[in-house]
Amino acid sequence: MLISLGPQAFISPAPVLLVGTYDAEGRPNIMTAAWGGICCSQPPCLSVSLRKATWTSRSLQQRQAFTVSIPNRKMVGQADFAGLVSGRHEDKFGTLGLTPQAGEHVDAPFVAECPVVLELLLRHTHELGSHIQFIGEIMDVKVSRDCLTPEGLPDAGRIDALMFSPMSKEYYGMGEFIARASAIGKTIKREAHLERHTDISGDRK
Ligand SMILES: Cc1cc2nc3c(=O)[nH]c(=O)nc-3n(C[C@H](O)[C@H](O)[C@H](O)COP(=O)(O)O)c2cc1C
Repeated sequence: MLISLGPQAFISPAPVLLVGTYDAEGRPNIMTAAWGGICCSQPPCLSVSLRKATWTSRSLQQRQAFTVSIPNRKMVGQADFAGLVSGRHEDKFGTLGLTPQAGEHVDAPFVAECPVVLELLLRHTHELGSHIQFIGEIMDVKVSRDCLTPEGLPDAGRIDALMFSPMSKEYYGMGEFIARASAIGKTIKREAHLERHTDISGDRK
């Protein structure tokens, strides 16, 4: 039985994204964001929704660019801290011992220690209420060499991304490999198709 919890900002899991920006004085900053994800394939776009009061939201609008660095499970403390303290008052990179590396394609810094980094140019801004949704076009995806498969694709197990559960406010790690996409569903598709076209006696309809 499903129990209604009412209208809530909830999805499970939510990602843990470190949004990187330079402020008006050129100081690098990161903030943690869970309200975000891919929102278009072509052009490749990602959205993050940030409270107006965040230093990041202001910097992002000034510079029209941002990065998203994806922390792994070992970085959980650093990711949490980046979501507790504002870059308005604190050099979070310095306090956390993280390296702000300048984006190659955009005017924003990323976290050199993270296994995955995206560089984005701001394309759309939507005022939604408590949050402003920023949609960025992905100009580049960088993945740490040791997190690539032999075929050169991102290996989710090695990236070992953190996940966030809103409401209970807990972090989780990446689970185990379960199945290949666009393959496991095909067995059901094939069976359903066969069933639809075969009558009870087993004869093809
Ligand atoms: C796990 C986690 C997820 C968060 N997700 C968001 C989010 O999606 N949007 C947002 O505006 N704030 C979010 N926050 C809060 C900001 O990270 C926090 O307000 C931060 O201090 C803002 O930093 P800044 O002022 O340097 O930009 C989150 C915090 C945590 C710990």
